[in-house]
Amino acid sequence: MQTTNKIQTVSSLIDTINFRGKSLLSINDLSNEQIYGLFELAAAFEPWNRSVINLLPGNVMVTLFFQPSTRTRMSFETAMHRLGGAVITEANPMVTSSSAKEESLSDAMKVISKYANVIVLRHPNDEEARDACNYADSPVINGGFGHWEHPTQALLDLYTLWRTQGRVEDVNVCIASADLVAARTGHSMAYGLARLGANVTLASPKANRTPASVMEKVGAVNGNVKEVFDLDQDSFNEMIADMDLVYLPGCSAPKGAEAEAFKKVMDSYYVRHETLERVRQEQGRTICVTHTLPRRPGEMDLRIDTTPSQQYFEAITYSVSIRMALVASILGN
Ligand code: CP
Repeated sequence: MQTTNKIQTVSSLIDTINFRGKSLLSINDLSNEQIYGLFELAAAFEPWNRSVINLLPGNVMVTLFFQPSTRTRMSFETAMHRLGGAVITEANPMVTSSSAKEESLSDAMKVISKYANVIVLRHPNDEEARDACNYADSPVINGGFGHWEHPTQALLDLYTLWRTQGRVEDVNVCIASADLVAARTGHSMAYGLARLGANVTLASPKANRTPASVMEKVGAVNGNVKEVFDLDQDSFNEMIADMDLVYLPGCSAPKGAEAEAFKKVMDSYYVRHETLERVRQEQGRTICVTHTLPRRPGEMDLRIDTTPSQQYFEAITYSVSIRMALVASILGN
């Protein structure tokens, strides 16, 4: 009886979210009400995090990843299995699919969407990816497009924040990276945080600041968004001492000759364990730190892993529930 009630709750939440048959390319494809609806639905799915709620039998998800992934691909695939659906994985399409024979992405999407009820696509070129989505006959979920957006990573980080702090509104968040041009998750998260009323600080070198196109949209919905540039490690750590959450979106580090110079810039955004401990001891307050992962040596003190500040591994469990919610809202009922 209890399970029947829970399934009725799930079904009614899916109706309320009203996202059936839609694609998610940007976090801005969702209204604030839909984002909160997905949070409620994800919370309702949490009891099935290690089992199956058989909502989507007969549905197929194709994960088509032109860039490497551990978390995004596997958590979507886990989510689909937990919902009782099936998964076809293409994790290396430039080798094992007809993309290796120069088939265009638009043709590939046209064909694959005849098999799939939903496609999760990751691609290095956001313009090509967005254009190709127009050729798909099934909904498409952006699993990371170029330097543009990674909306489901932001969704899972927003959900983690909502679950752990009980709200997003008025939370003080610093998004920090040595390169906020390339940090696609940083863009999606800035949109989401701003829209849900957080106070957002974007910290980066001025040369690698958040693109103006992102800042314009973020600024239009929230006056409490600011940028700070060219901090050194001391001033960065002083600044984050006032935050509730430090958000490290990571980005692709250059290789070869530029690698050493980039490491020096990264060093300015290093999160010190001592900063978090001092605030905990002096103010009794926990500054949470999350990183979208994978992380690199030199981004944070690894001692943070075993403190209450650590949220990057906590978020992994939440990632399955929120992706279950998204997929169920697209394919369910
Ligand atoms: N956070 C994230 O997108 O990780 P993966 O590259 O492993 O999917």
